[in-house]
Parts: sequence; C-alpha cells; structure tokens
Amino acid sequence: MTGFDDARLDDVVVRRADRADLLDVLRIERTCFDEPWPYSAFELFVDEPAFLVAARGNEVLGYVVADVMPNHGNDIGHVKDLAVRPEARGRGLGRHLLVSALTRLVMAGAAVVKLEVRVSNEPALDLYRSVGFQAARRNPGYYSNGEDAYIMVLDLDEWKSG
Ligand SMILES: CC(C)(COP(=O)(O)OP(=O)(O)OC[C@H]1O[C@@H](n2cnc3c(N)ncnc32)[C@H](O)[C@@H]1OP(=O)(O)O)[C@@H](O)C(=O)NCCC(=O)NCCS
Repeated sequence: MTGFDDARLDDVVVRRADRADLLDVLRIERTCFDEPWPYSAFELFVDEPAFLVAARGNEVLGYVVADVMPNHGNDIGHVKDLAVRPEARGRGLGRHLLVSALTRLVMAGAAVVKLEVRVSNEPALDLYRSVGFQAARRNPGYYSNGEDAYIMVLDLDEWKSG
C-alpha cells in the first residue's frame, strides 16, 4: 500500500484472520511495537474466534487478537494485541476491530474483558475509555523498558446492553 484513500474505506471488511494473513500482521506488529510478538505467537492464536483482521482485498490494514479464559462460569476475555497500520489510522478501523472482537468475546461466553496498555499510550487509552474500559489498577514496571501498565476492564454484560 503506497497511500491511504478514504474513499476506499467502504471496501474494508473485518473478518477472522487466517494463516495467509500472518506475514502482513507480523509486518504491522513490527512497525507498531518496540517489543513485537514473534510469528509463532500469532500462529498460536490463528484459530481463535477473536483474532480478526481489517482487510481490503488481500491487504491487511490492522488486526486484533483476543481470547477467552474459563473462570468457573465467569469467563474472562483478554484483548492481547491491537494495531492499525500508521497510514490507515484515525479512520475508525481501531474502534471497528475492538468492537468486533468484544462482540466475539460475548458470543464465546465472556462476562468481563481485560487488557494491558502502556500508561503513555494516549491514542489507545482514549479508544479504550471511549468504549467503556476503566483502569482497574496500575502495574508498575510491567513492560521491559520499565514502563507501567494500566490494567483496564470492561463489564461485557453492561457493554452489550448499553
Ligand atoms: C490505538 C490504535 C489501534 C487506534 O487505531 P485507529 O484506527 O487510529 O483508531 P480509530 O480511528 O478507530 O479511533 C478510535 C478512537 O481512538 C482514539 N484515538 C485514535 N487516535 C488517537 C490519537 N492520535 N490521539 C488520541 N486519541 C486517539 C480516539 O478516542 C478515537 O475516537 P474518535 O475518532 O471518536 O476521536 C492505533 O493508534 C495503533 O495501532 N497504535 C499502535 C499500536 C497500539 O498502541 N496498540 C494498542 C496497544 S494496547
């Protein structure tokens, strides 16, 4: 992709990731994060219902990875990774991916969802707050450069009825 054409956003679909998407996903991951996941980590999640890509044709513009952990009937969703290619940001794709993943987590039986985010990551914090996530606690030195994480949570029962 050389540029990003707003008029073609209509062509973007959010769908389940498959193996053929993983190299694009890895390329975006390496652009977006100082501590990118390796290919093998994405491979582990390729069959998860909430590993989604935003794609235009075969071109991946962004992705979200989320899963559900059983917890005695009070299953917990976890948003593990979310990124949009820099040139495709600010057009609603991050929100679309996140909301689509939350919907999948609800369908998979999750009652609450959590995520970790760098305390300095304003775009992501803004997005998560606007969807309804709240910082439950601050985890000191969570990242390898010593930065703290906010652990954010969202009650999915409230979210789906709201
Ligand atoms: C966070 C990220 C996924 C957002 O993707 P995006 O496609 O640009 O997001 P959207 O266009 O859907 O914007 C949704 C909301 O995010 C927030 N947001 C997005 N960009 C922002 C910015 N530069 N500054 C502040 N808030 C921002 C806003 O609340 C926005 O809502 P609004 O458009 O109603 O104001 C993207 O910035 C990204 O890939 N960042 C690098 C990877 C990353 O940090 N991932 C999160 C790890 S926890």
